[in-house]
Amino acid sequence: MASLVLFLVIILVQAIHLGHEPAASGRDFIDPELVDKDEVFSKPGLHKVEGKDWDYELVFVVSAFNYNPGQVEIPKGAKVKIIATSKDVNHGFEIAHTNVNFMVVPGHISTFTKTFDKKGEFLLLCNEYCGMGHADMKSNIKVV
Ligand code: CUA
Repeated sequence: MASLVLFLVIILVQAIHLGHEPAASGRDFIDPELVDKDEVFSKPGLHKVEGKDWDYELVFVVSAFNYNPGQVEIPKGAKVKIIATSKDVNHGFEIAHTNVNFMVVPGHISTFTKTFDKKGEFLLLCNEYCGMGHADMKSNIKVV
């Protein structure tokens, strides 16, 4: 019983305090039909920002079975706010060998902020079964 309560507390701290939930901060919802016309999501990719707690915003449009952009280069040491949404079904968003791992849900905007302090190539992959092309759903994150 104690461990169940402990797990619940950990989940609540992650969700509420650390903001690790599908609808985390700022603007939380979006109509999946309007993603391509949206001010933010019509320009997927890495964008430098000024006057925020992070250096870049990395916008991803996710759909079966690809991530847009399919390849990203991030300068080493950059603090990046990932902003993602799905146009169709639930997808996963895991960058292998990092702590980046969240779900992308249609209608929601997911965010995750991470400092990329290790050079190398990292596989971005879908870890949520989303259909026939699920196993091939990936992108490449290059930290340079
Ligand atoms: Cu997208 Cu599995």
